[in-house]
Amino acid sequence: MGAKKKAAAKSSNAMWGGRFKAGPAEIMERINASIDFDRRLYAQDIAGSMAHCRMLVAQGIVSARDGKAIQGGLKRILGEIEAGTFTFSRRLEDIHMNVESRLAELIGPAAGRLHTARSRNDQVALDVRLWARDAIDRVEPMLRDLQAALLDKAEAHAATIMPGFTHLQTAQPVTFGHHLLAYVEMVGRDRSRFVDCRARMNESPLGAAALAGTPYPIDRHATALDLGFAGPMANSLDAVSDRDYALEFMAAASICAIHLSRLAEEIFIWCSAPFRFIALSDAFTTGSSIMPQKRNPDAAELVRAKTGRIVGDFQTLAMVMKGLPLTYSKDMQEDKEPLFDACDSLELGIAAMAGMVRDLTPNTERMLAVASADYSTATDLADWLVRTLGLPFREAHHATGVLVGMASARGVPLDELKLEDMKSVNPGITGEVFKALTVQASVAARTSFGGTAPANVRKAATAARKRFLGAPKRR
Ligand code: ARG
Repeated sequence: MGAKKKAAAKSSNAMWGGRFKAGPAEIMERINASIDFDRRLYAQDIAGSMAHCRMLVAQGIVSARDGKAIQGGLKRILGEIEAGTFTFSRRLEDIHMNVESRLAELIGPAAGRLHTARSRNDQVALDVRLWARDAIDRVEPMLRDLQAALLDKAEAHAATIMPGFTHLQTAQPVTFGHHLLAYVEMVGRDRSRFVDCRARMNESPLGAAALAGTPYPIDRHATALDLGFAGPMANSLDAVSDRDYALEFMAAASICAIHLSRLAEEIFIWCSAPFRFIALSDAFTTGSSIMPQKRNPDAAELVRAKTGRIVGDFQTLAMVMKGLPLTYSKDMQEDKEPLFDACDSLELGIAAMAGMVRDLTPNTERMLAVASADYSTATDLADWLVRTLGLPFREAHHATGVLVGMASARGVPLDELKLEDMKSVNPGITGEVFKALTVQASVAARTSFGGTAPANVRKAATAARKRFLGAPKRR
């Protein structure tokens, strides 16, 4: 701790303590300080300060000389934080005052000019916005990578037959590739939610100052441009008081996490002994300390569980923001931990999911066997009766139900019923019907747009590759 910081520790806060005679109670300092978590904003805080300083100089509010000293000091502080040699102080509350206090140590009174025409209210709103924008710029390509992993696996298994389920009951055969492409679509929408959210949040609050704007001749358009924003936020009160961008990020993260949790759950089920649809390698499983035979899909379970955290993070900030009067209230300091946690959890989850998708090996014989059982082609029999004999679908459905009942009573699959049995239900049925009853014929017949026929799946994968893995769209 520098001599100046020690002196401050005895009395009030060096940054705002002009009218304060005594320092805060220990518990006041503890509840008030955010530095333990908002230090993660250091890069955004310094980038924002640098842009603000450039503008102050350009507008003649700060001299070029002071501006140069400020820039040099900020650069040095960035280096210190990145090298791990910076001493963060709780007494200085947050990242903004930690940086500014160090700047004063480094360059003297000129440091005090940086905060001209600015408040911590627009500063923190800016920092968190920049952080969330950076987070989207990490998350969005990670989702793209997950799509790439899903697409590779889907193409390799465009014709691999598995049972399709409704109610987790065998419904109709589908292909494994088709199943994976469903997630490619979901993740595609997740990506576009983040892209939309980025476009909406990409306005600069800087220069709103405490809440009302500032009498200095600042140029908010210049700082907005400098920091890569589309423009300045139009209303200063809104600029310092809304956190909808953080909520929107977490809403998008929640929906994305819910999607991931469904695939995680499926991987979990597919790996189980009764299913044995897929195997994960040593890289994505753990053993049991007591049962040597165990191979647990922990990563899938944790991706599933992290959804609870992420949705909870959204809820946390939603409840913090609910009913807050304009403009800034210290409540809003509580925006950071949920945002960081949601983002960290989501990034881990996406990366683990991409890893598992690349790692998993389908047990194609087992999938085929289960897909062939439980009268999964009953709908194909009904469809055959409609298309070949011209029966109304409802009648065909009823006749098929009778045949399934007959087969089930004898403990045989549909295609092992005798032709005479078939004819006893509808005399028009011919031997041709058996061709329609294989699972291969069933999936191959589903050529409607978006359907599971292997030829469709190959086309859909190619189209998805173009749609999702082409040049990334940025608005
Ligand atoms: N650490 C504060 C936060 O995160 C910074 C803004 C403080 N503003 C204030 N008026 N006390 O919200």
